[in-house]
Amino acid sequence: MTRAALGHEDFARRRRLLLNHMHPGSIAVIPGAAQQRRSNDICFPFRQDSDFYYLTGFAEPDALLILIPGRTQGESILFCRERDPHLERRDGAILGPDQCQSVLGVDDAFPISDVDEILPGLLEARSQIYMNLGEHAVWDERVLAWLDELVSRRPAVVATVQQVTALGHLLHEQRLIKERKEQVLMARAAQISVAAQYAALAQLRPDVSEADLEAELLYSFRKQGARFEAYPSIVAAGDNACVLHYTRNESLIAAGDLVLIDAGCEFAYYAADVTRTYPASGRYSQAQRALYDLVLKANRGAIAACRPGVAFNQPHDVATQILVDGLIALGLLRGAAQALIASCAHEKFCPHKTSHWLGLDVHDVGDYRLGEQWRDLMPGMVLTVEPGIYIPRDSTTADVPEAFRGIGIRVEDSVLITPQGCQVLTEDLLKDPDEIERWMATKGSVGQSAQGLKEVVA
Ligand code: GLY
Repeated sequence: MTRAALGHEDFARRRRLLLNHMHPGSIAVIPGAAQQRRSNDICFPFRQDSDFYYLTGFAEPDALLILIPGRTQGESILFCRERDPHLERRDGAILGPDQCQSVLGVDDAFPISDVDEILPGLLEARSQIYMNLGEHAVWDERVLAWLDELVSRRPAVVATVQQVTALGHLLHEQRLIKERKEQVLMARAAQISVAAQYAALAQLRPDVSEADLEAELLYSFRKQGARFEAYPSIVAAGDNACVLHYTRNESLIAAGDLVLIDAGCEFAYYAADVTRTYPASGRYSQAQRALYDLVLKANRGAIAACRPGVAFNQPHDVATQILVDGLIALGLLRGAAQALIASCAHEKFCPHKTSHWLGLDVHDVGDYRLGEQWRDLMPGMVLTVEPGIYIPRDSTTADVPEAFRGIGIRVEDSVLITPQGCQVLTEDLLKDPDEIERWMATKGSVGQSAQGLKEVVA
């Protein structure tokens, strides 16, 4: 059994791997996140930058990691806040440079207040800088200012800085393949999110508010050790579910509504992402069931296509074919499937792609294409599979029979690619419509956990 918690040796190994891939004579500048102001002098809860966290495990604001391959005095240098009794009394402990060096295992650590003095010297004679331009505007400006300073000091030295390269080319490829411990953490994030959906589902009935279900999700996340959502939870009844990123979550749920719940927690910095669509009354109407069956078939077909060596877009192509064939059979699309897909006519009802990467970020990093080609899936990649059909009750669907309008359905799982095929991290959450109806009919008399659910539906 792999011990899930990441230790400082894991972060050091990641730095080593990145250093090994960096060009000799280069330097990487990797800023941490800053505190974000919410109102007046109150900040949002701090969340470290994912790249910085991946390489350090250090969750304090105002820090900067520098990596310099081959530097004899030390290849990893951290700038961080100094200890400050007043600040620590208000906001909690600060590690400080000395502790950072010993605890995090970086080669050197300095106060962040010294960065303007030290950094220009580290940049000297480096031919290439790796950084993610555009993500941290303040740091972009400072790097340019340091380079300016070098120009004014020693023009000959600056002439050697020839290239600024996106750090993501190296680092995001590394992040794309999840190590075993990351897989375990992501499985836990999925498990927590599944249990939270059961907690919300147990409260679903006509005349409760979307807010009531959102509250169940948040309570459940927090109780299970996940402090944050990986993204704002979506609890969308009826027509609201046709807004893809609906987050108002404050409407009353009506008896005939379908309720789409798209909610994943962040556990130990790793995201889950899972969506189900339930009937408020406990039973799908005939039209709802016809659409639901179609989306579920697309979800299952796409998951069956998730295995090493398959192009990233293949699950999407499989799902799209199933959805379009089904919408034609229901009379909601007219024409030949291939022509409809080629002209994007199906996007009227199926407007989004089927998958995105998942990891430290819910829309995780990593290229989807290599050159012109979709890249192949590989063991250790984690992606979502989330086909959907959306038929808003608006002027664009005036020609659609009323029974199909005001319906948004998405069935989404988090999927880990394994050497043999794939593992569905969210598989414990029901998606078979008969099983959902049975569970909703008996939820008052059984446990709310996945275990309870399995006993009922067995
Ligand atoms: N499920 C939320 C998102 O993909 O944005």
